[in-house]
Amino acid sequence: MPSSQPKVLRWLLARGAALQFMHTVLSKRKLSPNVTRLDVLAERIAAIRLPGQFVIVRRGDGAERIPLTIADSDEKAGSITLVIQAVGKSTRELVALDPGEVIQDISGPLGKPTELAEAGHALCIGGGVGTAVVHPIAQGLFRRGVRVTSVIGGRSKEWVIFEEELRRLGEVVVCTDDGSYGRKGFVTDAAKDLFAAGGVNVVYAIGPVPMMRAVAGLTRPLGIHTIVSLNPVMVDGTGMCGGCRVSIGGETKFACVDGPEFDGHKVDFDLLWDRLGTYRKHEEHSLTRHEEACRIGLQKPEGY
Ligand code: FAD
Ligand code: FES
Ligand code: MG
Repeated sequence: MPSSQPKVLRWLLARGAALQFMHTVLSKRKLSPNVTRLDVLAERIAAIRLPGQFVIVRRGDGAERIPLTIADSDEKAGSITLVIQAVGKSTRELVALDPGEVIQDISGPLGKPTELAEAGHALCIGGGVGTAVVHPIAQGLFRRGVRVTSVIGGRSKEWVIFEEELRRLGEVVVCTDDGSYGRKGFVTDAAKDLFAAGGVNVVYAIGPVPMMRAVAGLTRPLGIHTIVSLNPVMVDGTGMCGGCRVSIGGETKFACVDGPEFDGHKVDFDLLWDRLGTYRKHEEHSLTRHEEACRIGLQKPEGY
């Protein structure tokens, strides 16, 4: 636990129980050039969350609602861990928060918990921020006594995250695109070798769509059950808006209530990829306006 955490908690508790319902940022740590870890007060969620579940976060009045995986939790401290890749306006606003500042709304835990293997050898594959998303799954498997091997990757050493946390749960193979750390190449190259060695019963793959599609392509002919976590645009997170529709084995499913994890061999990755680009123009516009606001001092820039 970061050393600043108990101090912040003591400070909060000294100011009364009502504050416990506010989602105060307890600690913040930059994990890679664009990924930040925030430990946030959310007692009820910390007590009941399960691997694979996520929250919908709204920074403040008028802000967008965005889904983020619960990467870890500390029931004693009443906190959940959010690992955020700053890709657009809402994520940049979140990573600009400092300890003591507050996230207005956090709804959850949402989504179906991971279908955890009972025994055997599980391969947990994480690409980019997907490494933090795969962490609670690896944790759940480890707690059941399943052998866990994690294969994680980044473009270079400084982009590799959650290595230490995953090492506590089993063997870790690190891959970097440029070979600056661990093995040179993609996570799929390392996974191929592990499949060739044999003994892998189940695969959990989380990361960019092309990576999850490639892993599913490798395991399909081998008949290895493969679970992926889909990231369509979500709004309400409760099955009401239909924004997160995905196609699984030819059937329409809502990722927020039926997922976000699905059988990777049944996912229509082409449709998912197309739908992810639907709002790209609006997102670019929103980011440009956010950057302008930061420049003229109306908002805090990332890392402020
Ligand atoms: P924008 O510029 O608005 O969008 C950038 C891209 O992010 C879009 O092209 C789209 O692909 C995606 N996106 C935008 N809005 C949404 C939305 N409302 N819902 C889903 N995707 C959106 N990211 C993390 O960094 N860490 C996590 O732990 C994490 N967990 C996720 C869990 C789930 C179940 C899902 C569906 C997504 C998760 N994401 C996570 C992705 C994260 O929600 C988006 O990166 C974020 O919403 C982008 O918002 P933005 O305004 O900063 O970027
Ligand atoms: Fe609205 Fe899933 S986010 S239905
Ligand atoms: Mg956005």
